[in-house]
Amino acid sequence: MSESNRLRIAIQKSGRLSKESMKLLRSCGVKFNINEQRLIAHSDNLPIDLLRVRDDDIPGLVMDGVVDLGIIGENVLEEEQVERERLDKPSLCIKLRELDFGTCRLSLAVPNEFRYENAQSLEGLRIATSYPNLLRRYMKQKGITYSDCMLKGSVEVAPRAGLADGICDLVSTGATLEANGLYETEVIYRSSACIIQSTQTQTPAKQALIDKILSRINGVVRAKE
Ligand code: PRP
Ligand code: ZN
Ligand code: MG
Repeated sequence: MSESNRLRIAIQKSGRLSKESMKLLRSCGVKFNINEQRLIAHSDNLPIDLLRVRDDDIPGLVMDGVVDLGIIGENVLEEEQVERERLDKPSLCIKLRELDFGTCRLSLAVPNEFRYENAQSLEGLRIATSYPNLLRRYMKQKGITYSDCMLKGSVEVAPRAGLADGICDLVSTGATLEANGLYETEVIYRSSACIIQSTQTQTPAKQALIDKILSRINGVVRAKE
């Protein structure tokens, strides 16, 4: 693959961070049009390409140097970092700054009829999650043994479907838990969106563009405070 001389930024294709990510870039003066069918959107006014991908893929793309920047939830970033630590792979990225959107928490939740006292109540149970590494780290700290039920989506239906006793999933408004007859028992990680950079960047020109975008982001965020 030839080295692109355009700066690549990965953002979530569709989900909680998509709109705000595009809004942030536009408010920094990056002009682009999105074609829903396309993975890549070229900026009209700057040497920037936007890659629209699944949020879970963004940390890996940045760490592997496939893209230069990524806008991602800290939860997804932390999950990938713990995974790479476990596999003894370096995680080659720097968090440039936190952003003022995408606030959520990764929490344990159980069915409404479950009699929960403390984290020990989960001893020996099966927990459905898309965040096996963050769950493992938390349960290890608490000294609790449990079984995994790995699901990439629809985690909240696992208890009702008889696949798991409880879940460990993201909570934002709490509407998903409520709709599924679950209640939150412990917060294991607090998160917001952040912007990350690959340590494998690149040319001085790309770095200068990154610096420019970052200083504009700082200005945009400060103006809202
Ligand atoms: C999370 C989580 C729930 C929902 C919770 O999914 O998995 O489905 O948000 O939000 P609420 O408390 O406001 O109801 P997310 O949007 O991050 O998408 P993903 O699971 O596809 O990554
Ligand atoms: Zn996701
Ligand atoms: Mg979800």
